[in-house]
Amino acid sequence: MAKLTVKDIELKNKSVLMRADFNVPQDETLNITDDTRIRATLPTVKFILEAGAKKLILISHLGRPDGKVVAKYSLKPVAQRLQNLLAEPVKFINECVGDSIKKEIESSKERVILLENLRFHAEEEDNDAGFAKELASLADVYVNDAFGTAHRAHASTEGVTHYLKSAAGFLLEKEIKYLGDSLKNPQRPFMVILGGAKVSDKIGVIENLLPKCDAIIIGGGMAYTFLKAQGKEIGNSKLEKDKLELAKTLLEKAKALKKDILLPVDNVIVDKIDANSKTDICLDNIPQGKIAVDIGPQTVKLFENKLKDAKTIVWNGPLGIFETDAFSNGTKKIAEFICGLKATTIIGGGDTAAAVGKFRVEDKMTHISTGGGASLEFLEGKDLPGITALTEK
Ligand code: 3PG
Repeated sequence: MAKLTVKDIELKNKSVLMRADFNVPQDETLNITDDTRIRATLPTVKFILEAGAKKLILISHLGRPDGKVVAKYSLKPVAQRLQNLLAEPVKFINECVGDSIKKEIESSKERVILLENLRFHAEEEDNDAGFAKELASLADVYVNDAFGTAHRAHASTEGVTHYLKSAAGFLLEKEIKYLGDSLKNPQRPFMVILGGAKVSDKIGVIENLLPKCDAIIIGGGMAYTFLKAQGKEIGNSKLEKDKLELAKTLLEKAKALKKDILLPVDNVIVDKIDANSKTDICLDNIPQGKIAVDIGPQTVKLFENKLKDAKTIVWNGPLGIFETDAFSNGTKKIAEFICGLKATTIIGGGDTAAAVGKFRVEDKMTHISTGGGASLEFLEGKDLPGITALTEK
C-alpha cells in the first residue's frame, strides 16, 4: 500500500487520534450483540500502546443520530466492552470537541480514551473544516482503522487528514489487501458469488467484476429479476421491473465476454414468507402465486461444481432468506463448501458476514470484511475517500 501505515509513524510519547468504526448492533437494553468491529481494531490499539504512545484518543460514530444528542446512540457501552477486551482501563468522555475535553484528556490517568459519538454534531457528516481542525487539535498524529466508514468523506475520516500526518491501521490495511489488491491480480479461477434482495445494490459490483472474474454465480432475491429477463416464470418472487432491461444487458455483456453467469435451476418455494410456511422444491418455472425463498438442491450442486476449482472467491449477499432456518439451506451449503476449498475466500460484510457467523464457518474464511457499504463500494472499484485522504509514503 502506498499510504503511510501505523508502522511507519513515530508513536512514542505522541497523542494519537484514531478513527474506529464502533457502529455495532445493540439490543433494546443497549447490550452490544456483536462486537466484531471492536475486536477487529484491537491489533492497532495494542500496537499503538505498546509503541509507547502518550494517549490514544478513539473516535467513532454509532447509528445515524443526525447531528443531535440521542441517548441510545451513546458510545458509552462501547467503552465498557473495549475495556473488557483490552484488559486496560478506558476512559469515556461524553463529548468529542471543545476546550474542556482537552483538559480532561490531558489530566486523565488512563492512556486510552473514547470520545462520545461524532455524529451528535452535524459538522461531522458535513465534513466541516472547523470541526475537523478541532478534532485534529486533540493529537499529534492520526490513524484511520475505520474501514466500515471509509466510503464517507466526513470530518473524522477525510477532513482531519488535512491537519495531521495520517496513517492506516492494521484493519484498514488488511481490508485493502483482500478487497482491493488481491482482486487486481487474483489467482484464477476467480469466482464471484452475489446474492441479497436487490439487483440495484449489485449493479456496480457486476459491472466492475464481470471483466475481471471467470464467472458470476447469482442467488438470493436478485436472481429472480435475471431469471425473468431470460423469459422464465418466477411466480410472486422478488422482481425489480425497472431493472429487467439492465439484467438483459448484463447477461448479454457476459455472453460477449465469454463469462458464465450461473442462475438457480431449482428453488425452494412457499405461498407466503413465514417461518411456518410449507416449503416445496420447484424445478425451472415457478408457478403463479409461489415465492422463491432459497436456492434448491440442484442449484447447490451446480454452484458447487462451478466453485470446486476456484482459487479466489468473493461472496457478497446471501442466497436465500437465511435468517429463517427453513430457507437457509442454500446459503449454509455454499458457505460450508467454499470454506473446505483451497481458495482465498473473501466475504463482503453485512448480511453475508452474519450468514457465515450463523453457520459457524467464519474462522475458515480467509477474510470477512467489517464494511457493509464500504466493501460494496470497494468491489465496485470506487476510491474510498477515507483511504485516498491518508498521507502518501
Ligand atoms: C456501516 O455500518 O456500514 C458503517 O458504520 C457506516 O455507517 P453509515 O452507513 O451510517 O455511514
